[in-house]
Amino acid sequence: MSTTRKVAVITGAGSGIGKATALAFLKDGWSVAFAGRRQDTLDAALAEAGPDAVNGLAVATDVSNPQSVAALFAAVQHRFARIDVLFNNAGQNAPGVPFEDLPYDKWKSVVDTNLSGSFLCAQAAFRMMKGQNPQGGRIINNGSISAHAPRPDSAPYTASKHAISGLTRTISLDGRKYGIACCQVDVGNAMTGLAERMAKGVKQADGAVKVEPMINVTDVAKSVLFMANQPLDVNIYHLMVMATNMPYAGRG
Ligand SMILES: NC(=O)c1ccc[n+]([C@@H]2O[C@H](COP(=O)([O-])OP(=O)(O)OC[C@H]3O[C@@H](n4cnc5c(N)ncnc54)[C@H](OP(=O)(O)O)[C@@H]3O)[C@@H](O)[C@H]2O)c1
Repeated sequence: MSTTRKVAVITGAGSGIGKATALAFLKDGWSVAFAGRRQDTLDAALAEAGPDAVNGLAVATDVSNPQSVAALFAAVQHRFARIDVLFNNAGQNAPGVPFEDLPYDKWKSVVDTNLSGSFLCAQAAFRMMKGQNPQGGRIINNGSISAHAPRPDSAPYTASKHAISGLTRTISLDGRKYGIACCQVDVGNAMTGLAERMAKGVKQADGAVKVEPMINVTDVAKSVLFMANQPLDVNIYHLMVMATNMPYAGRG
């Protein structure tokens, strides 16, 4: 079935920033594919859209698995016949253990999801955007303040998010000839399962533990929707949205 609505694919759409963004896109008149590993979580998130849920699709997907990503984009092609925006949002963190104690499997899981998963989804979206008529689209990568500065004991997360900045810049260059824009949102302290430890107290650069201010995911969703709604010849290359009083803006 084809659609005249704009079409977005959002990974990690069952919870947190991804869910808030997917619901905001639906409310704004987009068709949205919700992707994440847990089908029941995706179905519940989509149901929160009420009548707009008819314009959604929930596809259980592990972004770190090439076959699973191929199946997601095949389902999107089948249902919507195009893609206008990919929000590469699925992400994981690793336990904050000293660098020398970090198990390899924790490193690998974070990098496989945050970096390789973003690459796999971006490549599948890029191919669809290149081949469709009208050609083009936009890929929005979810980076982090950790794409700019580390927290203590955060090597896999920080390394993967710095790498996302490289992915954003590369796709933005390689996509030019096909009308594919690529940009990055860098979020600081949105209240989600992944970030709730910030609100409880998180280790600072000097070893002190501090409770940090948090923002609401709906405010992040508004920023992502704003980036998505630009005409394709306009690209908000980087957008940082963070809690006004978080320590990042001062000395670490
Ligand atoms: N919250 C913040 O302050 C903050 C700050 C900077 C950046 N971010 C970024 O924002 C993104 C979303 O995080 P969040 O804060 O909203 O936390 P969250 O609620 O934990 O969301 C992460 C989502 O990613 C999905 N996911 C994890 N591994 C996956 C995989 N292999 N394949 C597919 N989906 C996977 C999870 O769903 P399943 O478990 O069902 O797969 C979950 O819905 C992440 O990239 C994170 O790094 C968040």
